Amino acid sequence: MKIELAENYGFCFGVKRAIKIAEENRNSVTYGPLIHNAKEIQRLDSDYKVGLTEDISTFKTGDKAVIRTHGIPKAELELLTDKGVEVVDATCPYVTKPQQICEEMSEQGYDIVIFGDEAHPEIKGVKSYAANGAYVVSSTDDLEDLKLKDRIALVAQTTRKVEEYLQIANYLIPRHKEVRVFNTICNATFENQDAVRKLAKRADVMVIIGGKNSSNTKQLYSIAKEYCNDSYHIEDEKDIDMSWFDSKELCGISAGASTPDWIIQKVVTAIQNR
Ligand code: F3S
Repeated sequence: MKIELAENYGFCFGVKRAIKIAEENRNSVTYGPLIHNAKEIQRLDSDYKVGLTEDISTFKTGDKAVIRTHGIPKAELELLTDKGVEVVDATCPYVTKPQQICEEMSEQGYDIVIFGDEAHPEIKGVKSYAANGAYVVSSTDDLEDLKLKDRIALVAQTTRKVEEYLQIANYLIPRHKEVRVFNTICNATFENQDAVRKLAKRADVMVIIGGKNSSNTKQLYSIAKEYCNDSYHIEDEKDIDMSWFDSKELCGISAGASTPDWIIQKVVTAIQNR
């Protein structure tokens, strides 16, 4: 039986990059969780002595602070630098981009509108770069009562859907003289979904790896199941039943955005060695 991994699976570019940065900076401390994956954070702690703190006041001069993929507010970054903390920035470049746009556009006098979730760390960070403040909206309803100027710059949280972003842009454009719309959406999660769809159409059996409560893994599993009836959602190699592969020719494998590569590798090896 042939085993084939989906074209895109598991951790996105920004998360892989952040983990590599953390691994290269032993004995550092991340300010806030580096990524949304507890097992991986534990592994970084035990294998690389990369700790975690939520309290910025614990950093002292000479400490090494790793900035999480979602980024942090500008004032906090300045506080760390002023304290003489060595800052290692693992902010995903797709998050740095809207931060820069907010900073530049705000300086140029544009009103900043951010489509996203105000409580999300990414948006707290992005918003902080707008020197004159920014409006965070989650739907067109939120726009109705805003007193916006004629020049508006619009950015979106990286994980938002394009269709919903367009609704915001469509609302603003006819009502204002100048609306600059920046495409700051990152396609990583959608790429994993497209890839699983493509592979499941050809495979005889599909194995989807990820936490049982991981919503994006469940989504991948339901897409796989739609095209390949013999699809299974497992957390790790211990969940495999080898009879799934009897008289099958192609086994497709994918994994959720929070599944570390080492778990995926163990599954592939177990199936290969059956
Ligand atoms: Fe990942 Fe960065 Fe996109 S962290 S989901 S590549 S914004």
